[in-house]
Amino acid sequence: MIPTLEWTREGVRFLDQTKLPLEETYVLATSYQQVADVITTMVVRGAPAIGVSAAMGVALGVKQSRAAIISDLAAEFDIICNTLAATRPTAVNLFWAIARMRNHFSTLAAQPTATRESISEALIREAQIMYDEDIAACRTMGAHGADLLPESGGVLTHCNAGALATCGYGTALGVIRAAVERGHGIHVYADETRPFLQGARLTAWELMHDNIPTTVLCDNMAASLMRAGKIKAVVVGADRIAANGDVANKIGTYSVAILAKEHGIPFYVAAPWSTIDLATPTGGAIPIEQRPEREVTHHAGKQLTPHGVSIENPAFDVTPAKYVTAIITERGVLRAPYAESLAELEAAAATR
Ligand code: MRU
Repeated sequence: MIPTLEWTREGVRFLDQTKLPLEETYVLATSYQQVADVITTMVVRGAPAIGVSAAMGVALGVKQSRAAIISDLAAEFDIICNTLAATRPTAVNLFWAIARMRNHFSTLAAQPTATRESISEALIREAQIMYDEDIAACRTMGAHGADLLPESGGVLTHCNAGALATCGYGTALGVIRAAVERGHGIHVYADETRPFLQGARLTAWELMHDNIPTTVLCDNMAASLMRAGKIKAVVVGADRIAANGDVANKIGTYSVAILAKEHGIPFYVAAPWSTIDLATPTGGAIPIEQRPEREVTHHAGKQLTPHGVSIENPAFDVTPAKYVTAIITERGVLRAPYAESLAELEAAAATR
């Protein structure tokens, strides 16, 4: 399996996604500040991977604390969590993971026998549980979504929602992997995904790793391939899904969804429940990260645009729920109206 991130005795080890596909190198983050930096600079990226990385960053920060008493540790813990929460604003998995670590810390710290060491060990265990749960969720999503994909033909994906964006297997690419494992003859079309090129660099790399037939497209080619009948379905991941089913995902997803609707092609979103944000009513309330201009003005260190030209670089857009054929989660496949189906599955899980 592709080792996206891993807890080690020395720190958190990340496959450096800024270097793929040409170099397979690793970065060892030995402090929580370095984990925050690795998330901001997109050495690790993808909503579920960002969440688990932050949880490991929290565990690492506590492990390295020298606080003498629990109240000092609690104050330091708050700083650690706030630092990690300030890295990337759109993927709600980041905030979900930090909130889970905060709750766990509060329970542990309230025990009269708690020590810095006992809390640290329990937080490391919790982060590792989140890692395992993420892989299990991806596999279940794959099982739920596989038969939505065609028996054969082209499936378009945007960005990278694969093993590299999770702890393993992937969300959108997990559904594709599961379909291929069931014998579907799928050919993946991967949008290159300007400006960071997650499709061209990462999706292509990881699918080739698994021998899944893949073709890379420039982002502006999808419409004509759809018109030519080469695309039978679209499946993408998500960074945050609002309570009404609006989906924030990599910039360009919205235009792919409109194109799919125009051509009568199903548009699926695969995401774990940790990506669903029932506290955010609609996509309009989702914060959209603005990335550095240099990601647009430069490629591989070379300037592409005139000096001083004005640049836009929103990292995500919002696809309105009306374009989404189904949302595939580990709890099942949801259909519109999403306000109802999301609330129903949440209530069902709460009574279990
Ligand atoms: O900016 P990135 O590369 O972190 O954006 C990633 C995406 O948009 C993915 O599609 C999303 O996080 C889902 S990953 C399973």
